[in-house]
Amino acid sequence: MWAVNPLIQKDVVFRRFNLMTTLFPFKKPFHAIFCRNVMIYFDEPTRKAVVERLYDALTPGGYLFIGHSESLHQMSSRFHYVQPAVYKK
Ligand SMILES: C[S@@+](CC[C@H](N)C(=O)[O-])C[C@H]1O[C@@H](n2cnc3c(N)ncnc32)[C@H](O)[C@@H]1O
Repeated sequence: MWAVNPLIQKDVVFRRFNLMTTLFPFKKPFHAIFCRNVMIYFDEPTRKAVVERLYDALTPGGYLFIGHSESLHQMSSRFHYVQPAVYKK
């Protein structure tokens, strides 16, 4: 069992969300997105489309964290590489 620290509980929302959704249903952009070990299941065109949508869902300068076995190196994307598994808008 685990619990979110009470100091940040008011900022935490849990929802089911399908990354295949072409229009992400978020009202505000994110400062950071953790999408770790998820895109490994997707084919290359799907992965690229998802990465573009994740980019659009971030604030300028926001970070995308992916799994250490994943990489965006093989695809053209608008993200800037920061370090393994970390990319910046
Ligand atoms: C290997 S687990 C990784 C879980 C966690 N992110 C981690 O790193 O431990 C892959 C996760 O991808 C999720 N997933 C697969 N396809 C998805 C989709 N289309 N939309 C959202 N999540 C998806 C699965 O539900 C599963 O929880």
